[in-house]
Amino acid sequence: MTTTPDLATQPSPTAAGSGANASEAFRASSGRRGAAATSTERADRLVRRTLEAIHQVVREEEVTYPEFQAVKRWLMDVGEGGEWPLFLDVFVEHEVEKVAARTQHGSAGTIEGPYYLPGQQRLGPVATLPMRVDEQGERLVFSGQVRDLDGRPLAGAEVDFWQADADGYYSGFAPHLPDGNLRGVIVTDDEGRFTITTIKPAPYQIPTDGPTGAMIAAAGWHPWRPAHLHLMVRADGHRQVTTQLYFAGGEWLDSDVASATKDELVLHTEHTANGWTAVYDFVLEPA
Ligand code: DHB
Ligand code: FE
Repeated sequence: MTTTPDLATQPSPTAAGSGANASEAFRASSGRRGAAATSTERADRLVRRTLEAIHQVVREEEVTYPEFQAVKRWLMDVGEGGEWPLFLDVFVEHEVEKVAARTQHGSAGTIEGPYYLPGQQRLGPVATLPMRVDEQGERLVFSGQVRDLDGRPLAGAEVDFWQADADGYYSGFAPHLPDGNLRGVIVTDDEGRFTITTIKPAPYQIPTDGPTGAMIAAAGWHPWRPAHLHLMVRADGHRQVTTQLYFAGGEWLDSDVASATKDELVLHTEHTANGWTAVYDFVLEPA
């Protein structure tokens, strides 16, 4: 028999819990992201075109009053449940990222999602992520090198890393997980190299018990993202890359609810006597 923690004695993660925490984390990060410089002309254009797109759906689909009132109630629920960061990062961020990627020349990026937390433990170039003594999941050793566009190694670059656990939950957003679990900032060595020992995460499921989950169920969609690692890679004088890495052959790779997979972000893992290994190098362009 395996020893699993008695979840009945611990608060379990809920949509309301992770939504509220994601809202709080987003508000706390607004300084880091900077305020949008929006002129009256730009606001006029973006708001008008967004409303026109909605009006077009109403006309062409002949949206009824009961449907309109159901949407209004649902939008209120998303706000009250603190699920706007979850909803927008799943259903909208991928397009904003693709626009940003048009001017990007280094490694491919993808969405940040709602679960990044700054200020995690700084670790040396060969590091084991903070984890519970009985952390479940198969061991994964993930290594690589950070270089510039000319192939020069970037020493002292930061690999800011976060991931879900083997049940698909993120620390800081699920009450049963210790703060900082499976998160860390790994600093590269003189050759720009890093080696991170962690566990293979599980696929992630959008919380099904909140309004976003209700919408997905109502539409007959599935709520899954393929298993993934999250990273921000940064070095002085270079443009930061925010990305995710997926696992070849993983479930949901071809139907990510967040539409955030890219072929070049799929890791090819090898199974050894000691668990899994994966190698991935990053290229940063000048800032
Ligand atoms: C969401 C969760 C993730 O882990 C992710 O990478 C992207 C989006 C979400 O629930 O919104
Ligand atoms: Fe994620």
